[in-house]
Amino acid sequence: MLVLLSLLLIAHGASSSIRCSAIPNYESTDMISLLDFKRAITKDTRRALRSWNASIPYCQWEGVMCSLRHLTRVTELNISDLGLAGTLSPSLGNLTFLKILDLSNNNFTGELPPLNRLHRLQLLLLRNNSLQGMIRDTLANCSNLELLDLSSNLLVGEIPLALANCSNLEWLDLSSNLLVGEIPRNIGFLSNLLFVYLGHNHLTGSIPDEIGLLRNLLDLFLAGNGRLSGGIPPSVLNLSSLVVLDLGNNMLEGALPSNIGDMLPNLKWLELDYNKFEGHIPASLGNISGLRTLGLSFNNFIGQL
Ligand SMILES: *[C@@H]1O[C@H](CO)[C@@H](O)[C@H](O)[C@H]1NC(C)=O
Ligand SMILES: *[C@@H]1O[C@H](CO)[C@@H](O)[C@H](O)[C@H]1NC(C)=O
Ligand SMILES: *[C@@H]1O[C@H](CO)[C@@H](O)[C@H](O)[C@H]1NC(C)=O
Ligand SMILES: *[C@@H]1O[C@H](CO)[C@@H](O)[C@H](O)[C@H]1NC(C)=O
Ligand SMILES: *[C@@H]1O[C@H](CO)[C@@H](O)[C@H](O)[C@H]1NC(C)=O
Ligand SMILES: *[C@@H]1O[C@H](CO)[C@@H](O)[C@H](O)[C@H]1NC(C)=O
Ligand SMILES: *[C@@H]1O[C@H](CO)[C@@H](O)[C@H](O)[C@H]1NC(C)=O
Ligand SMILES: *[C@@H]1O[C@H](CO)[C@@H](O)[C@H](O)[C@H]1NC(C)=O
Ligand SMILES: *[C@@H]1O[C@H](CO)[C@@H](O)[C@H](O)[C@H]1NC(C)=O
Repeated sequence: MLVLLSLLLIAHGASSSIRCSAIPNYESTDMISLLDFKRAITKDTRRALRSWNASIPYCQWEGVMCSLRHLTRVTELNISDLGLAGTLSPSLGNLTFLKILDLSNNNFTGELPPLNRLHRLQLLLLRNNSLQGMIRDTLANCSNLELLDLSSNLLVGEIPLALANCSNLEWLDLSSNLLVGEIPRNIGFLSNLLFVYLGHNHLTGSIPDEIGLLRNLLDLFLAGNGRLSGGIPPSVLNLSSLVVLDLGNNMLEGALPSNIGDMLPNLKWLELDYNKFEGHIPASLGNISGLRTLGLSFNNFIGQL
């Protein structure tokens, strides 16, 4: 310990002479970024950001938290539910120590700012705004991201392939947007995923087999895309932890696997209504003792219950 400490002190002493030029002035960078962010907010009727002024240290501004180790770096910005409107300033992308960014339940418009340098980000919640455009480089540096919630916006384009780099993702919610294209096969790399919500978009194609690699998955919600086609991939039967399986309002077809109830014994919610499923309703469904919601309406099932 003592040796380590003295080494640290020596190293510290040796670098102190160059500190001024070598270490950028983060205090002003983060404050400038926050003030730029505030300037792009056009509506704050509740004056929620009135504390964001120079007479108060910015680490004490409403919704702002700073690192305990780097006292000047902003690690959390949470201004959810404050009735704010405006665009998201690109300066957000300069808050490179951010771990938590929560702007949910406001009415931000315009495109997502470039967040590709925020490699420390763990929780990104932009839910329930009016954000437009594509999900571009937002995810380029997402290896620490655990929760991504961009749901209930007006986002267009495809689900980015870069998603596969978010290897720590547990919660993925892109539901209720205008996304098109197929569910990327490389979603199967995200083995920590517990919750996947991609419903209420315009996704097409079939449900990729690779979904079956997500062994920890609890919720799979793909309902309301309208045009997802093909059958339920057999690999889904490997998701034995699944609690919610909601595929309603699509164009899925084929017979249900006869052993579905025995393979997915933890289901509480199984919604398959408004599709083109056919054949018999498997008797094994009767083995899912915890099932609370079962939706099979508006399909082409035949035979006995
Ligand atoms: C700065 O914020 C404080 C605390 O909310 C407030 O009392 C003060 O009026 C603000 N100053 C300005 C110039 O807005
Ligand atoms: C942001 O703040 C709201 C209100 O205090 C809270 O409910 C929410 O959990 C916070 N978000 C995060 C990601 O901690
Ligand atoms: C980000 O910070 C750099 C360096 O301080 C600055 O040059 C740049 O203009 C900032 N970008 C934004 C969008 O604020
Ligand atoms: C969405 O945000 C609005 C405020 O912009 C709020 O009134 C509404 O309750 C939010 N909806 C949900 C489902 O959280
Ligand atoms: C959000 O802003 C858009 C565009 O300014 C507007 O059309 C919409 O009504 C707003 N929504 C809410 C919930 O205030
Ligand atoms: C990831 O973040 C680091 C550090 O902020 C940055 O230097 C790098 O360019 C980013 N990578 C991408 C692909 O944007
Ligand atoms: C994933 O990350 C690697 C390494 O940072 C990068 O080379 C690659 O382009 C990224 N993949 C995508 C699809 O962005
Ligand atoms: C289910 O998992 C087992 C064990 O990993 C594997 O051998 C099998 O191929 C999987 N089944 C499907 C249909 O993916
Ligand atoms: C229900 O579970 C029991 C016990 O595991 C099993 O013997 C039976 O074959 C199952 N019934 C159906 C219809 O799958």
